[in-house]
Amino acid sequence: MHKLCMIGTGYVGLVSGVCFADLGNQVICVDQDKEKIKKLRYGISPIYEPGLDEILKKNINDKRIQFTDNLSEAVKQSDIIFLCVGTPNKKNSLDVNLSYVFKAAKEVIKNSKSHKIIVTKSTVPVSTGDQIEKLIKKKKISVISNPEFLREGEAIRDFRFPDRIVIGSNESKATEIMRSLYTPLINKGAKFYVTNRRGAELIKYASNAFLATKISFINEIANLCEKSGINVEDVALGIGSDNRIGSRFLRAGPAYGGSCFPKDTKGLVATGKKFKTDLSIVNSVIKSNENRKKFLLERIPKILGRVKGKSITFLGVTFKPNTDDMRDSNSLIMIPYLSKKGARIKYYDPTGEKKEFKKIKNVEYAFSVNQACMNADLIVLHTEWDEFKAIEFNTLKTKKTCKVYDLRNLFDYKEMKKKKIKYYSVGRPNLN
Ligand code: UDX
Repeated sequence: MHKLCMIGTGYVGLVSGVCFADLGNQVICVDQDKEKIKKLRYGISPIYEPGLDEILKKNINDKRIQFTDNLSEAVKQSDIIFLCVGTPNKKNSLDVNLSYVFKAAKEVIKNSKSHKIIVTKSTVPVSTGDQIEKLIKKKKISVISNPEFLREGEAIRDFRFPDRIVIGSNESKATEIMRSLYTPLINKGAKFYVTNRRGAELIKYASNAFLATKISFINEIANLCEKSGINVEDVALGIGSDNRIGSRFLRAGPAYGGSCFPKDTKGLVATGKKFKTDLSIVNSVIKSNENRKKFLLERIPKILGRVKGKSITFLGVTFKPNTDDMRDSNSLIMIPYLSKKGARIKYYDPTGEKKEFKKIKNVEYAFSVNQACMNADLIVLHTEWDEFKAIEFNTLKTKKTCKVYDLRNLFDYKEMKKKKIKYYSVGRPNLN
């Protein structure tokens, strides 16, 4: 059993803290947001993550996890302190804002009286661990990199059954303490890789950038498929069955979003600049993804003939299903653009109304699919929530001439043709 402190109770800190507690460790989660801490003490999670509430409540009851805004007290009671604070992009820059990381690190160092291990779990640029180490004067503190590989919506499964645990460490004693912390997962088959600290920091960025590259690759192949009467899903299947390529993350769709890929691709390019290395492929992925937002959006006036006065419905607005996260979601570009062009927009999302759209003219939240699609000229299937798979478009009270624009290829384009529905999707033949 280890005594852990998680600084930051967001998607990474809270999920990791609860899952570490569930492995039998003693965990204190720290956040400066007193409101958040109060709710967490009652087992109310500030984030939507399937399965989290139940494990959170169980470990609160078993007294393995507690929540506080008192960082110094939490550090004193802990041996391993995880930095899980935000590392957002700096405004209009590729660089990463590390102010929260260094603020937390300084607090930890100041309050450390005995040997501690500081672990950066947030995604941090290469050499951040070195900079933290420079802040330590005459104290026995080890600095380790242990990046997270949690997908929103699957975070608990990704924690419990990781493909790999990566430790970046320049000290064998600290490495062995981390190995013992992760032993329950290693015993269940998780690979445990040790590299130097900078290596682990780069592995995280390179992983996300490669996944983003894979997505941008299939998205550009989808563009070619549309022009040449090919179904991109057949191509994805055909190339993905080569186990050197792998079938996952080859689903063509809108621009990738979320709190990681956009941020981490830019962060990696910034790291390249810092070490005077041109990462031209990652650079082109960033550009390709940005262009895609406009490219798919401009299709709407072509599908509708005009946007002004039209009723457009969005089904799902989050950046992907099984999360309430709106960060870098395509809908944040599409809905304001269409509103400005004079469309009347209704949207429905299983995670509820979004503050991001509250101030936008002619945008209304609907409480159900049926209500959202009432009188629609166009239905945009934006996020592939499972519940949308059951939609029977012909039963909806849309306009007779209503069309469907499926950004996620959730539906079978041949089936839609049979049902005489004007259907548009991504990277597949247009049978209208
Ligand atoms: C990602 C990484 O997967 C995870 O390992 C890392 O720790 C954090 O960043 P996340 O951002 O939660 O996780 O979502 P992910 O499932 O990777 O999807 C990212 C974006 O790619 C979403 O916009 C999703 O819609 C898109 N995507 C994903 C595709 O367009 N096609 C795919 O085949 C897969």
